[in-house]
Amino acid sequence: MPVLTQISSRVLNESDTPTAKAIASTIGRMITAGELPVDTKLPTVRQLSRSLAVSPTTVSEAWQGLSAVGAIETRGRNGTYVRVPSGRGSPRRYRRVTAGSSHLAIDLSTGTPDPDLLPDLGPHIARVGRNSFTSSYLDSPVLPELEELLLASWPFEPESLTVVDGAMDALDRVARVVLRLGDRVIVEHPCFPPLLDLLEQLGCEIIGIDMDENGMVPDGLRTALEQRPTAVFLQPRAQNPTGIAINESRAKHLSEILEPSSALVIEDDHANDISAAPLVSLGSWLPHRTVHIRSHSKSHGPDLRLAAVGGLGD
Ligand SMILES: Cc1ncc(COP(=O)(O)O)c(C=O)c1O
Repeated sequence: MPVLTQISSRVLNESDTPTAKAIASTIGRMITAGELPVDTKLPTVRQLSRSLAVSPTTVSEAWQGLSAVGAIETRGRNGTYVRVPSGRGSPRRYRRVTAGSSHLAIDLSTGTPDPDLLPDLGPHIARVGRNSFTSSYLDSPVLPELEELLLASWPFEPESLTVVDGAMDALDRVARVVLRLGDRVIVEHPCFPPLLDLLEQLGCEIIGIDMDENGMVPDGLRTALEQRPTAVFLQPRAQNPTGIAINESRAKHLSEILEPSSALVIEDDHANDISAAPLVSLGSWLPHRTVHIRSHSKSHGPDLRLAAVGGLGD
């Protein structure tokens, strides 16, 4: 089937009067599914707009959205093509940050805890080996005692809670469930480079919000919400790289601004209790819209790679 027919029938199937975002999202999904492989030549703006009965501006906007997230590229007069992915799974920015840090006495940018300060997990791991904690694959994925402990200190009542392989794993899993190619996502500016790598790999449009000493600047968030982002990622304390902690009044203010939107809040409490700042979660005000991640890598060691993630359910 010609690419033009393939795209227009799919777009019209999904929406009668497609907007630029709908066109971009549909094409994004077709690229993700491999239905439009790399190097596929896309129809011209004029051809597609005629076929969809929308204005050329709408298709141009869709093209801009897709090229902004690296999904397509225009090769001069030769036309517009599906692009080679920018390297799935490659932590580009993080490598750049950590390359060349060997001249530093202590490199804090990696966020790696000092091994001398970590507790000796040996006796505890030996105990795991001796005991059988689960009797079946069908048991609850979180040991009831652990769940009880986590719930007792969770900043809000989560709809569901589980344990994964570290905060990065949690961010990755949550992002892959809630985000689609072309989605807009709000992050703190500056933020943790691997999060940007992840969002870029998913083809999201990243909107950075400046921070002051209490976290995201409220006016910046308010303005960015006009772009209808799908999610807001933030670190409630020991923000990497600034060290900033969100205080209670800022968290409440940000929650009020977010209230009328449909954006999900994804919080990365990567430092957990090694941070001296009290934990404040937007989940206290937006419990049904927040996913809170608590890592134990900094307190127990990155090789343990354990994090709890709890918040909104399915
Ligand atoms: C902000 C932030 N999130 C996530 C992580 C990774 O955490 P984990 O080891 O639990 O995957 C780090 C590690 O430094 C971090 O700084």
